[in-house]
Amino acid sequence: MSVFVNGNAIFNAARQGHYAVGAFNTNNLEWTRAILKAAQETNTPVLIQVSMGAAKYMGDYKLVKKLVEEEMRVMNITVPVIMHLDHGNYEAAKECIEAGYSSVMFDGHDLPFEENLEKTAEIVKLAHAKGISVEAEVGSIGGEEDGIVGEGELASVEEAKQIAALGVDYLACGIGNIHGPYPENWKGLHFDRLQEIADAIDTPLVLHGGSGIPQEQIEKAIKMGISKVNINTENQLAFAAATRKYIEAGKDQEGKGYDPRKLLAPGSEAIVDTVKEIIGWLGTPEVK
Ligand code: G3H
Ligand code: ZN
Repeated sequence: MSVFVNGNAIFNAARQGHYAVGAFNTNNLEWTRAILKAAQETNTPVLIQVSMGAAKYMGDYKLVKKLVEEEMRVMNITVPVIMHLDHGNYEAAKECIEAGYSSVMFDGHDLPFEENLEKTAEIVKLAHAKGISVEAEVGSIGGEEDGIVGEGELASVEEAKQIAALGVDYLACGIGNIHGPYPENWKGLHFDRLQEIADAIDTPLVLHGGSGIPQEQIEKAIKMGISKVNINTENQLAFAAATRKYIEAGKDQEGKGYDPRKLLAPGSEAIVDTVKEIIGWLGTPEVK
């Protein structure tokens, strides 16, 4: 039996309850442990996701799933954990369905819409037959993440309706959000479009590029229907800053400070703190 839960009940409850649940990208063992630790200590559900690039970096999809699964066992994790593929292409989504992920994103934003629709429908069919949740995307997220480049095209309400009608479990929509750090001249989220989409469909909505969006914009978006907030860069920046501080303070040169178990500890703790802070912003309620 799988140790993972799918996202349906968790994200539907979030949409109805006007809060969100964090979707945090893992990049390695330290990231995995830090995300799980933060979720357990806050007693909240969590979604751990891996991009195609990060899975390749770590090995493959099966390895990532095993890593999360085994860390849950040794860490005695009792909160619900969703194991999700982030921005998957058609092949990756199929592979993760086979590998036992409890949720997959099929990102067809760069395909002609008809093809995005067709392939999303196929993935929904394969995934739902196994009780796996599916995230799809309309419009696109600006910027670049692990080789996935988007122009930041606003999601069309009509397309959102058509893709939601396929029975997708959550829907990522481009509303001016960007992967990676936001530029100085960023104009903010397009709340009008978000409202139109939220009025048109009940599907839980996903905010990609969650790092660097001001807290009040995130809170406003959640009130309107965003139920899943994706975070990667924020943890990378926190990890890098804490590691830099450790090295600049010369701690790697004191005693056995060069031991990776010591060298990577401040960065790992910084991820735990960041994830906990974001969970607070999202208003994720504790597991009963
Ligand atoms: O899919 C992952 C995210 O959208 C993460 O975006 O790195 O800007 O937080 P971010
Ligand atoms: Zn994303």
